Amino acid sequence: MNVSKYKRYLHLQSFEKIPIPWDEIFGNHRKITVEIGFGSGEYLCALAQMFPDKNFVGFETSLTSVEKTLRRLEELALSNVRVARADGRFVLRELFDDNSVERVVVNFPCPWPKKRHSKRRLTREDFAETLAAVLEQEGVFELATDVEWFAREMIDALNETLSFSLIEFTVNPDRPLKTRYERKWLAQGREIYLLRAKKIRNFAIERTVTGELPHAKLKRVNTDKLFKIKGQIWQEDEKVVVIKDVYQNLDLDNWLVLTYSSDGDFQQHYYILITRKDDGFLVKLDSTTVPFRTPAVKWSVYRIAEEISV
Ligand SMILES: C[S@@+](CC[C@H](N)C(=O)[O-])C[C@H]1O[C@@H](n2cnc3c(N)ncnc32)[C@H](O)[C@@H]1O
Repeated sequence: MNVSKYKRYLHLQSFEKIPIPWDEIFGNHRKITVEIGFGSGEYLCALAQMFPDKNFVGFETSLTSVEKTLRRLEELALSNVRVARADGRFVLRELFDDNSVERVVVNFPCPWPKKRHSKRRLTREDFAETLAAVLEQEGVFELATDVEWFAREMIDALNETLSFSLIEFTVNPDRPLKTRYERKWLAQGREIYLLRAKKIRNFAIERTVTGELPHAKLKRVNTDKLFKIKGQIWQEDEKVVVIKDVYQNLDLDNWLVLTYSSDGDFQQHYYILITRKDDGFLVKLDSTTVPFRTPAVKWSVYRIAEEISV
């Protein structure tokens, strides 16, 4: 599946400027609605058709859903939508400025009911804090769900930030636009809960991604040590780095290190290249796989350099 051939697909990791210059992407200064977990994309497309004078950005982790939606956007010739395959919680925090989003919509997210998965819930306080930062004053967060405790947990998380005022908490709202899951749950006779809250106060958050390209220069490489880093796991604060494999090229002075890293629960995998440069070696991110430059990604480059330097 090749989603990058579609005009409305955004390869988020390749942007040098962070937060992303959304006005430049859309070529105008119109207000932005973000939908997280758009699934089949019907809702996102319908909103974009209804409001041609607004911009829409959708994030979805399923590649199949992203491609389906990109095809639909082309068929409908909608120019006010961009989509990306990404964890919406992470990119909403990292790629949008404070007070820059008019509306954030989440329809029927998985509630992750098991305790061991609770870190993945949108009801975590850091997501509420992200909303309180990126939404503009009077901007609206909208959540539809079939799980009452989840909706209530979300209200608690929003309240914790002291940045929101509840507009409505409606059971079985009469929504003119219905999502695929909404139709499914209604057909099964489930109740639907709609929560809408308005931002009334800004909340300061910390972002972790920067445009900085991490690299380290070495005089020599200790190849014995380089091959021994395979399988190692390094951990510091919220950062974890796992070295999955080390590959050497045929002329013997270029190596690729397959690396997994996580910042909290945000995981990425990518290659780090060790290559001859001038009279020494350079350790840097390989351009074939471009991760977000998070603290763990930067640390993995410097940590490998430290391990293999002579
Ligand atoms: C239950 S489906 C709902 C789909 C659609 N909103 C609807 O109502 O029909 C949840 C969707 O969220 C996506 N998803 C889960 N976690 C996500 C995340 N962190 N960021 C973006 N999308 C996510 C899943 O791939 C799935 O398509």
